[in-house]
Amino acid sequence: MNFQELRPQVEQILQDSNIDVKQRMTQVCELLEQNISYYDWVGFYFKNGNKEELKLKAFAGEPTDHEIIPFGKGICGQVAVSNQNFVVPDVKAQDNYIACSINVKAEIVIPLFVNGENVGQIDIDSHTADPFTAEDEEFLVWVNQKVAEIL
Ligand code: SME
Repeated sequence: MNFQELRPQVEQILQDSNIDVKQRMTQVCELLEQNISYYDWVGFYFKNGNKEELKLKAFAGEPTDHEIIPFGKGICGQVAVSNQNFVVPDVKAQDNYIACSINVKAEIVIPLFVNGENVGQIDIDSHTADPFTAEDEEFLVWVNQKVAEIL
């Protein structure tokens, strides 16, 4: 399924007020993980209260040991402080990287803004080398904007 086909499905899930926000976000993770061949783990991390750390809120794929990530650590922790998209074509080339699985070859992390504040992020791991393009970034920025609307 391509990104254009996925957009209305993402919107439909996020607008379903019969289920809570966390469940809706889990369903979005599952939708993306199941329909984009090179998305092997999809999760949303958010700032954990007043702490300078991220906490995993929703995900699809293998459970991870890294449910809490300090700001500045790993790709996710760097995005928490940089406010910038981070596309990693080859995780082996990164010094500041937290490995979740030996199968992961590439990663993309896109910050999620509410009223201009970086409150969280979507994180995708891929078992395919160098799979992400500007289209992924554009789509994931859009997904985060849609999630921000229901937070
Ligand atoms: N690889 C991430 C950690 C989170 S896992 O990918 C689920 C990082 O370096 O921040």
